Amino acid sequence: MENSVNYQHYSAKLPDGGGEASLFRRAAKFIKNRVFYDVLMLPYALHRHRRLLRDCDRTSEHTYTCFLRSPSQLQLLSGPILEFLRTEAPQEPLNITLLACSNGAEAYTIASWLRLQFPALAFHIQASDLHPAMAERAAAGLFSADEALHSEYMTKDFLEATFDRDGQLYSVKPQIREHVSFSSANILDGADLLDRFGQAPLVIAQNVLFHLKPADAAEAFVNIVNLTTPRGVIMVEGMDQDLRVEMTQQCKLEPFTEDLRTIYNETRVHTPPNWWQVYWGSEPFLPFRAHAEHRYATAFRKEPH
Ligand SMILES: C[S@@+](CC[C@H](N)C(=O)[O-])C[C@H]1O[C@@H](n2cnc3c(N)ncnc32)[C@H](O)[C@@H]1O
Repeated sequence: MENSVNYQHYSAKLPDGGGEASLFRRAAKFIKNRVFYDVLMLPYALHRHRRLLRDCDRTSEHTYTCFLRSPSQLQLLSGPILEFLRTEAPQEPLNITLLACSNGAEAYTIASWLRLQFPALAFHIQASDLHPAMAERAAAGLFSADEALHSEYMTKDFLEATFDRDGQLYSVKPQIREHVSFSSANILDGADLLDRFGQAPLVIAQNVLFHLKPADAAEAFVNIVNLTTPRGVIMVEGMDQDLRVEMTQQCKLEPFTEDLRTIYNETRVHTPPNWWQVYWGSEPFLPFRAHAEHRYATAFRKEPH
């Protein structure tokens, strides 16, 4: 399978300046974030975050999203994940269920990516979000420059392949839009989800489970597994680590371990260095932790027993 992409940074980052001052700033940032926060404060941070998760309120109104959120996870999708799925049903059109889609950036990213990688692949993404207004907005496929460009990893190639531009408006190309449909659905309503979407070989529910209370997140996870065909794949970045280990082991899911650290770190790009102070924060990658592969993987396969 062809799977090579040029990840030249497109995002308009301020130039670092160079020189001694910049080197000093980068060294200071490294010491503060990687040494002080990630190592010296780690036991305290883990303890505080666990307590926060037990006690805090969550919100279903948090709709942050962006295009090209994790390019390495997309590589995983168009590489090992598709290879796994296509050995089972090489000729059938690929049905994808994507829950909690926000304004559609994630669904359009995946559609554009799959078209770029495999122009002949037949696939359809049924995307949904809790809020009907979000689903309608996503279906419109229109984005401001800020929404379209706001990604650490945006590339010129991806922008050109995904959008038609009309002044400051970025409109998703019709040939990408035709691969995606949108509706409203609650990830906690398992019967409705199954009724409406049926099972799909690939089910994606990212950056939503950490917005649910632990019991609800566990229930939603079971719904996601039930929506996935036997020998299907689940993508779930944005889920509490302890619960991820517990639920993926309980459901006997096997993690995709390729590029584990890189993918996990990309999913933390928007996490503040003091991650333990926000419930949606996630710990730094800790390879020595028990069940590290289940803990940090963002994609899992369901094998028939
Ligand atoms: C942070 S956004 C994630 C968007 C996208 N999946 C991504 O990863 O970029 C969380 C989304 O979950 C949706 N959401 C919250 N609770 C939900 C529920 N119970 N069922 C379905 N969607 C929900 C919100 O409306 C919001 O659009």
